[in-house]
Amino acid sequence: MKQGIRSGMVGGFGFSFSSLMLYLTYALCFYVGAQYVHEGKSTFKDVFRVYFALVFTAFGISQTSAMASDSTKARESATSILALIDMRSKINSTSDEGIKLDKADGNIHLNHVTFKYPSRPDVQVFSDFTLGIPSRKTFALVGESGSGKSTVIALLERFYDPDSGTISLDGIELKNLTLSWLRDQMGLVSQEPVLFNDTIRAKHSIRKTRRSYGRGDYHCRQGSQRS
Ligand SMILES: Nc1ncnc2c1ncn2[C@@H]1O[C@H](COP(=O)(O)OP(=O)(O)O)[C@@H](O)[C@H]1O
Ligand SMILES: [Mg+2]
Repeated sequence: MKQGIRSGMVGGFGFSFSSLMLYLTYALCFYVGAQYVHEGKSTFKDVFRVYFALVFTAFGISQTSAMASDSTKARESATSILALIDMRSKINSTSDEGIKLDKADGNIHLNHVTFKYPSRPDVQVFSDFTLGIPSRKTFALVGESGSGKSTVIALLERFYDPDSGTISLDGIELKNLTLSWLRDQMGLVSQEPVLFNDTIRAKHSIRKTRRSYGRGDYHCRQGSQRS
């Protein structure tokens, strides 16, 4: 919003300034030229020669200042992109610290979770949200768009940490588990039908097969699943 107003102001001033300069140059040329011709100091031909030289110069200058709004836009965009690149994530995804369980059963508990996205602090996604997901059960989260289904997954994958409350896998808080290990335990097929055009089952098997089979076997298995 602020950026829009600023670029609008700069664009407006740039455009008005360029138009002003252009028409002032026309006016000045015709006025001075007319005076010279009137006094017999110059000819009509020479006046127009000077006129065109000045008009084309003024046109060049006006074009440059009209681009001022684009250069402001580019600068503002670069600033926000650089700020994003410099932002440090609270979760270190390369860290190897934490507990690795021998075997994950898959009992998941969200206890009194409060969460809002850092980039959207005005929307409270969860407040005091508690949910238990037993292992070896098919579990569905159903709700209208924007109710927080994907956010539950994002918290389970530890893309974000809850603001308060805890999330645990087999009784151990996610924060205490090795992040890469935790993510290895999950296969996520999100709403992207174009990327891998296949059934959800086949897409889900990609992660699982890579864990227990070699690369060649994985292709065989996926082939046989399709048939
Ligand atoms: N990456 C994000 N950044 C900021 N807000 C988000 C983000 N993802 C989702 N939200 C907001 O969080 C709320 C829950 O969204 P989401 O979990 O995607 O809902 P669902 O998957 O149930 O449609 C919505 O208000 C949505 O606008
Ligand atoms: Mg969703």
